[in-house]
Amino acid sequence: MAIGFEVAGGGRLVGRLRVPGDKSISHRSMMLGALAEGVTRVSGFLEGADALSTMNVFRAMGVTIEGPQAGRVTVHGVGLHGLRAPSGDLDCGNAGTAMRLLMGLLAGQRFGSVLIGDESLSRRPMRRVAEPLSRMGARIETSPSGTPPVRILPAVRLQGIDYTMPVASAQVKSAVLLAGLYAEGETAVTEPAPTRDHTERMLAGFGVAVQREGARVALRGGQALRATTLDVPADISSAAFFLVGASIAPGSDLVLEHVGMNPTRTGIVDILRLMGADITVLAPREVGGEPVADLRVRSATLRGIAVPPELVPLAIDEFPALFVAAACAEGRTVVTGAEELRVKESDRIAAMADGLAAVGMPVQPTPDGMIIAGRGGEALPFAGGVVESLGDHRIAMSMAIAALRSRMPVRVRDTANVATSFPGFTALATGAGLGIAETDLG
Ligand code: S3P
Repeated sequence: MAIGFEVAGGGRLVGRLRVPGDKSISHRSMMLGALAEGVTRVSGFLEGADALSTMNVFRAMGVTIEGPQAGRVTVHGVGLHGLRAPSGDLDCGNAGTAMRLLMGLLAGQRFGSVLIGDESLSRRPMRRVAEPLSRMGARIETSPSGTPPVRILPAVRLQGIDYTMPVASAQVKSAVLLAGLYAEGETAVTEPAPTRDHTERMLAGFGVAVQREGARVALRGGQALRATTLDVPADISSAAFFLVGASIAPGSDLVLEHVGMNPTRTGIVDILRLMGADITVLAPREVGGEPVADLRVRSATLRGIAVPPELVPLAIDEFPALFVAAACAEGRTVVTGAEELRVKESDRIAAMADGLAAVGMPVQPTPDGMIIAGRGGEALPFAGGVVESLGDHRIAMSMAIAALRSRMPVRVRDTANVATSFPGFTALATGAGLGIAETDLG
């Protein structure tokens, strides 16, 4: 059976809800907890397939991990040099973050390993990580086209490097820094534009001295990690579907609770506000080194904008949802500098252009973004229709949200992977007022 969504046209989103835990922080909580000395206790952990893949990879390397149970996980850290050789390949499933960060972490181990992934992950570029790690002395092989499987040979000796990244990628930055824990001397990464900084923040939370100076972040190898306690905030990337949905659906008034508001992740709020969205930040607070707040979002008349390119890396996972917002705005939205979207779980520029066209909204994809002539002046700018998610969770949820402004139902095919980042999406969305049901669309 191929699970899909059947989403009734129209409606509004009201009430209060808390979306699941942050995916980026959940991955890192397992990685750093495993390498730490002592017992790390995590709450709010994302029980989605991606983070569970990371958890299982560490279990396969001899780490005892209890849970998850209602978001609680206990990791019995084995120390920087305590991981054991796995007996088989390490399966990262659909999770690019798991594979790329693990490449860095495993590059420093005295045992070899092989990282594999599902069909989508097996098409994604890994050379961007293998290349700087090789400069550090790591021995890493990808397929001839630079994709998984990734074979990592036992480390001889890693040397710190001072690396300037050609792409603004938090995954590349994190992989190099994690390898840097095992390298001689200082390892530094300079980013061309700010990207999410969870690795740096969390390493500091585990007691590692991390130097940040402008766009450059550096650490010295050989430092021990000390176990800690982590409270994972709700994922702003999952909240994004509701921020867009409540903005576009007239009569909406929704509060999203305990959302992670790390400034390297809030591009979605900034971009929606530039478009005229009505988002209020309530009760801002700090939880375990990460800013958190409740977000109240009410429907608003959106207008098209030229999205400032410096905001692109700060909202990189939110563009599928933002394209839906742009389609419901008055006037033209132009997105540039977002070519990274083409190498995510799917080619998200092509997938969203096809998805929007399938519901009656032709848009103009470009090599590095999209031009959308918004039809916000119309009450129901989408006609409805059948959309292919291409097995990409964020395409599936974005197109489901589009139904709020559709004349007829939107049917989304192949939605099983929604569980990679957002288990329980249909239940939460139903509670807020979306007419969504899971069904067999063949
Ligand atoms: C992530 C970084 C981003 C993002 C991904 C998660 C992370 O990827 O798209 O979903 O946790 O570091 P890039 O850094 O490759 O852009």
